[in-house]
Amino acid sequence: MCGIIGIIDLSGDVSERLFKGLKLLEYRGYDSAGMAVIDDNRLHVVKDRGRIDEIHEKYDFLTLKGNIGIAHTRWATHGAPDKVNAHPHIDCMGSIAVVHNGIIENFMDLKTELMEQGHRFRSRTDTEVIAHLFEEYLKNEADVETAFVKTLRKLDGAYALAVLTVKEPQKIFCARVDSPLVLGVEGEKVYCSSDIPSLLPFTNKIVPLEDGEYAVLTPGNIMIKRISDGSPVRRAFKELDMGIDEAKKDGYPHYMLKEIYEQPYSIRYALGIQRNYLELMADFIDRSSRLYIVAAGTSYHAGVVGSYIFSRLARIPGLPVIASEFVSRYGDSISVEDSILAISQSGETRDVLWAVEQAKIRGATILAVVNVLASTLTRISRIYLHQQSGPEIGVAATKTYTGQLAVLYKIGFTLARKRGKLGQDEMDRFVDELNKVPEVVEILLKRCDHDMRKLANEIKDSKYVIFLGRGVNTATAYEGRLKLMEISYIPSLAYPAGENKHGPISLIERGIPVIGLVQDDETKKLMISNLHEVRSRGAKTYVISSIDDNDIREVSDVLIKVPQVSAIFTPIVYAIPLQLLAYYTSVLRGLDPDKPRNLAKSVTVI
Ligand code: G6P
Repeated sequence: MCGIIGIIDLSGDVSERLFKGLKLLEYRGYDSAGMAVIDDNRLHVVKDRGRIDEIHEKYDFLTLKGNIGIAHTRWATHGAPDKVNAHPHIDCMGSIAVVHNGIIENFMDLKTELMEQGHRFRSRTDTEVIAHLFEEYLKNEADVETAFVKTLRKLDGAYALAVLTVKEPQKIFCARVDSPLVLGVEGEKVYCSSDIPSLLPFTNKIVPLEDGEYAVLTPGNIMIKRISDGSPVRRAFKELDMGIDEAKKDGYPHYMLKEIYEQPYSIRYALGIQRNYLELMADFIDRSSRLYIVAAGTSYHAGVVGSYIFSRLARIPGLPVIASEFVSRYGDSISVEDSILAISQSGETRDVLWAVEQAKIRGATILAVVNVLASTLTRISRIYLHQQSGPEIGVAATKTYTGQLAVLYKIGFTLARKRGKLGQDEMDRFVDELNKVPEVVEILLKRCDHDMRKLANEIKDSKYVIFLGRGVNTATAYEGRLKLMEISYIPSLAYPAGENKHGPISLIERGIPVIGLVQDDETKKLMISNLHEVRSRGAKTYVISSIDDNDIREVSDVLIKVPQVSAIFTPIVYAIPLQLLAYYTSVLRGLDPDKPRNLAKSVTVI
């Protein structure tokens, strides 16, 4: 996730406003930043690695003069966070500047083609191809807008873009596919930005750009069209009545809810992970004798799901281990033949780093899935995959959990292909389905929000809540329990449902809520009989399932039906209603879900 902003203001230099807006976008990424303005028909660019204030101190953004400009604050995806990879990116002639938030999935193919045509690339980013592609189209196309649209139509992936060219020095060209972009106007001044809060110091007249649209901004005017066919779009401005703090949460009352609702995007970003890194990681896993999956908290639950995925898809056993237990349990038996796959959103959890350091000393290969680039874990691992979920502010992990799962599926499929463990048809069907998960999540969010609010109201005063799952959703039960417990403070238990009869069933009494997760696989029958066991003893059963048949209905006091997906993908789809349940329960109990007591986002002590 990155932040982009563009401004045209004929009454004065734009750099001050760009700087102010950029600071408000800093939460979206902060490893490097940059600004480009057009002055006297020439582009002037300042960029570097580091936080916005550090770069400002070094170069002073305000020395940039000009009435039109764009700026960017980066959360690196392709290419290390350094000066050359910082945005804006420019073409060969230095006459086009591009800022971008998202991932261009086909950038390697485009880059190869453009290099063959003689373009010289400076960075390792996916974004730079946009500048060169636009440059290439402008060679033969007199109309700048047409060249811009041709450029957009060549791009696969997700993007929010703002582009300047000295050929039309009073225009900003912008576009949006699966990454947010809003437009604003204030008299003759016009704006585009990744979010509303960064525009609120200047204007409250806002219009969102929708997916598949581009816009041409000129002084006092905004023209919106569809990328696919160039048809014009008419959309009225809204006059917003909200403060910056409210707007920072995109109008949501809490970051947690905002982050839950970002999941269609964040999962898509995670699925866009680069193939070459996946291949490398799969090579290391394939070569090792044992694979330990080491993590803490929510990331550990992702690791448990990962162990099912790797076994099911690639016939590789991966042993999930809670990081703080790793050294005492397995430290003595780790060897040079083993791999550790560490999963950590922050990349800074002390328990995880300790486990990894100890395994490294014993010669094991360290692999990682992380969200925060340049974190300690990225530095000590041999290969890491960046899940690209963007900063998560709510203490309870939500979008980063499903992002981790998406990356684990990608690793699982890469391993399966390498080891020839899935038939081609099954592989194609699964991969196709995985790519559609972001859309499913979007539908799911619309469908289940109301149900989960209602359910929260029913359980909010419960003495305790029990979560049961089997197979791949054992971990979903653990995660549902953790979410509910950590932000609503209702004591909660989760068990693989088969263990129920070995203990938890003694807690069942009239009215105790049991939340059951049932997927359509070999565990379904057993899960249903476990639910019968608790229901016949008085529990009230709330069942989350994509199955809707008589067996399920018979055992559910309340059935929360979610969209149909193959059992292997249900951990993503079933986790989302549980996140909403925890959120609404916390709110109904008058608590702040973003800041649960005694907890921290990143725990850097042992
Ligand atoms: C803390 C957070 C959890 C998180 C865990 C692991 O306990 O409150 O939300 O799951 O740390 O964090 P990591 O950054 O390693 O994923």
